[in-house]
Amino acid sequence: MITIVGAGKVGGAAAISIALRNLSDEILLLDVIKGLPEGEAMDINHMLSEKGINVDVRGSNDYSDIKGSEIVVVVAGSGRKPGMTRMDLLKVNASVVKDVTENIKKYANNSIIVPVTNPLDPMAYVAFKVSGFSKNRIVGMGNMLDLSRFKQFIHESTGFSRDSIRALVIGEHGENMVPLPRFSSVAGIPLMSLLSKEKIDELVVSTREVAAKVIELKGATVHAPANGISAIVESIVRDTKQVIPVATYLDGEYGFSDVTIGVPAVVGKNGIEKIIELDLDSSEKE
Ligand code: LAC
Repeated sequence: MITIVGAGKVGGAAAISIALRNLSDEILLLDVIKGLPEGEAMDINHMLSEKGINVDVRGSNDYSDIKGSEIVVVVAGSGRKPGMTRMDLLKVNASVVKDVTENIKKYANNSIIVPVTNPLDPMAYVAFKVSGFSKNRIVGMGNMLDLSRFKQFIHESTGFSRDSIRALVIGEHGENMVPLPRFSSVAGIPLMSLLSKEKIDELVVSTREVAAKVIELKGATVHAPANGISAIVESIVRDTKQVIPVATYLDGEYGFSDVTIGVPAVVGKNGIEKIIELDLDSSEKE
């Protein structure tokens, strides 16, 4: 069973995205708001029934229902409002994620946690410390979302097919994220030989700023985060060993310790199977 804690827009969209990828027979939506998870589950089940997809979605306000979850996605907490940074949510969401994680520890002690709540990197750290789980079982979804935006900008700038584009973003899921043009390409052709430095620099800035723009226009980001979640869940459930930038606890990698931040990792049935250390140049390191 896959549990999603937080049955708001992103949680509901993530349940749909996971169901459409057929990643579990059962998805549990959990929320503290009475009625919300149950109503969302019913609505999604109606869609899945018409499509003939046998994934049962349940809604609950009772944490004990998460028993037996192999994966718990944590999207609970406040989303940012226009003009806010993700870090502005630190205090209010840290207590939410602490409470959620204590319940995960109590009821789903063998699960892999996929933190999404912002500010993502500190929230992944809270989940790691509060759960006491081994570090491979904390797989934060942040840069997967950032790279989806970098890919879109590369697609728009080159006009090439989206499925030919490989893009990499690491670091903080925030204003200091590090899109990596040197590690991005189109059908193996380095991005740097397809676009000018000026254009690439522009795409890097756009990648950092676009989420705030979406929030300004529609109030929240929903579908791209939901897809980032289901892509990570798929790599775990199907043990595909995809190389995905995820927020994970570093213990010396990249020269950092006791910090949780986005790095490329092999994601499989055990969560983080291996952290990949890139040979970053001085500006990328900075
Ligand atoms: C975003 C939020 C989820 O980047 O941090 O859309």
